[in-house]
Amino acid sequence: MEAGMTKDFVNPFTPVVGKVPLHIAGREEIIADIEGALAGAGNDPAIISLLVGPRGMGKTALLSHFADTAESSGWVTARVTCVAGMLEDILIRTQRATRHLVDIEPARKIKGAGIADFISLELEDSPRELSNWRSRMDDILDALAECNTGLLVTIDEVNPSIDEMATLVAAFQHFLDEGKKVALIMAGLPYAVTSLLSGKSTSFLRRAARYELQALNDYEVEEALMRTMRDGGKSFEPDALEAAVNAVKGFPFMLQLVGYRVWRMAGDSETVDVSIVNAAASVARKELDQRVYEAAWFELSEADKSFLLAMTEDSAITRQADLAGRLNKPSGHVSRYKKRLMQQGIIQERSRGLLEFCLPGFKEYFQERIAEEGDL
Ligand SMILES: Nc1ncnc2c1ncn2[C@@H]1O[C@H](COP(=O)(O)OP(=O)(O)OP(=O)(O)O)[C@@H](O)[C@H]1O
Ligand SMILES: [Mg+2]
Repeated sequence: MEAGMTKDFVNPFTPVVGKVPLHIAGREEIIADIEGALAGAGNDPAIISLLVGPRGMGKTALLSHFADTAESSGWVTARVTCVAGMLEDILIRTQRATRHLVDIEPARKIKGAGIADFISLELEDSPRELSNWRSRMDDILDALAECNTGLLVTIDEVNPSIDEMATLVAAFQHFLDEGKKVALIMAGLPYAVTSLLSGKSTSFLRRAARYELQALNDYEVEEALMRTMRDGGKSFEPDALEAAVNAVKGFPFMLQLVGYRVWRMAGDSETVDVSIVNAAASVARKELDQRVYEAAWFELSEADKSFLLAMTEDSAITRQADLAGRLNKPSGHVSRYKKRLMQQGIIQERSRGLLEFCLPGFKEYFQERIAEEGDL
């Protein structure tokens, strides 16, 4: 425990990438849908789900949350990131988890062989070609079915340029057609998901339930801040809570940063006043700048910056058609840079030809940095 903090409590906030927060703000509908699908018969569309949203919006945290709850109700889970080697990774993790299950129920048999024998056979094999992946998974799924359980695969940071996605999607289509107990939850930046769905070999995913993680509402932020703080043995004074909510601006990552700093700065005090929140918010804001915005800023080329600067002329939505004139560039240039910035998770296309900043707070950060550059 940190010295000088409220006795017997540790900081309850989790400003760590991918960490499941103590209290998840909002997201009730997504959680109800996906947990409902996991509890249901397997014909629910949310049995294959896509979580889509900009950075820091809580995609990884939700994936972990679903994997945790699925595990606690008996599912076997394989949690992977979308990189080359992902299929082998899923296979190995599934085998490991299955072996654990077998340890719990050693008496179970499949077709005359113990699951343990079957698994060790699998593990003795040298990695075979990926074309075998589906049939190897098929065998494991049959073994799991004998134990009355299913497999949840979570894939983070989906990347359409990873060829293994096509194999995985085709295999899942087959598993579902065969009535196997499987679930697939994927997460990614909007652009990556859109281009994944447009691919021919992964078009089956258009049937998946798609959830857009938007900024949180203020009342959702308020409730999560209040509850988490209470679990840490402290409470906000009313105007302090309001100030904290204003500092968070609906951004989940900022909720954790602000809460973490507030709790720490409050020291031994059990109540948090507005001066603590103000001091904490300015530290949290710097941390957010460093961890999220600065990284995004340094990825920007001069042409990216001109593009974004032209977008800041609008208060919220920019028409793509207006940008060619503002930038004095052909429309091909505009489409190219739109795509680049979407890939970086900085802007999104709300609907055809309508663009907006999607990383909460980045527009303001960008304007400040541009003004600083102008001062140099
Ligand atoms: N609904 C939520 N309520 C409270 N805190 C949240 C919520 N969602 C995420 N967080 C917190 O926000 C931070 C960022 O979450 P996470 O890493 O899951 O975002 P992400 O969308 O995966 O970002 P990236 O695209 O950068 O991977 C973590 O500290 C997490 O604990
Ligand atoms: Mg993530």
